[in-house]
Amino acid sequence: MLNFLNLPFLAQDFSGKISSETFDFHYGKHHRAYFDNLLKLISGTDLENYSLEEIIKKSFSQDNLRAVFNNSAQVFNHDFYWQSLTPKKKEPSKFLLKKIIANFSSLDNFKGNLKKVALGQFGSGWVWVILDKGEIKIISTSNADTPIAYGIKPLLTIDVWEHAYYIDHRNNRAGYLDLVINDLINWDFFEDNLK
Ligand SMILES: [Fe+2]
Repeated sequence: MLNFLNLPFLAQDFSGKISSETFDFHYGKHHRAYFDNLLKLISGTDLENYSLEEIIKKSFSQDNLRAVFNNSAQVFNHDFYWQSLTPKKKEPSKFLLKKIIANFSSLDNFKGNLKKVALGQFGSGWVWVILDKGEIKIISTSNADTPIAYGIKPLLTIDVWEHAYYIDHRNNRAGYLDLVINDLINWDFFEDNLK
């Protein structure tokens, strides 16, 4: 039985950073619609008995399950996105900072790379921090595509679909990314996934 992600924070916790309107639309309508669509699509099928990750892996690259893949992957991606954010500004721990510096030479360079890859994603998609053979890397995916379909471990994500920023930032993806990268990253979530 799949459950809709219950967030540990409310729209007002993001006051001054993410508007209630963006929060309500993104979490309450877009994310919710992917979840509701997925339940409808798998209702009465074998897929009902599987976890979200199993559904993604089973539907990936199967033409007749394209809608199941798109909706299940978008549920996973949004679950991961909300957990990648925090309304209370945080800094990476010494442990995490050391790991980041080992792979990106500095925190600023890491943040700059994250923004560059996110800006380089043409159209809808996601930017991901992943763990690849012990190294921290940054990649992007298109539309609903998700690293876990390929067995790649995600550590952090930022949604770069227009619905994530259009209400507050209009077409200014860079402005949205500056806010998320500098003020909203949940470094603890990143570190928990790394460990
Ligand atoms: Fe989204």
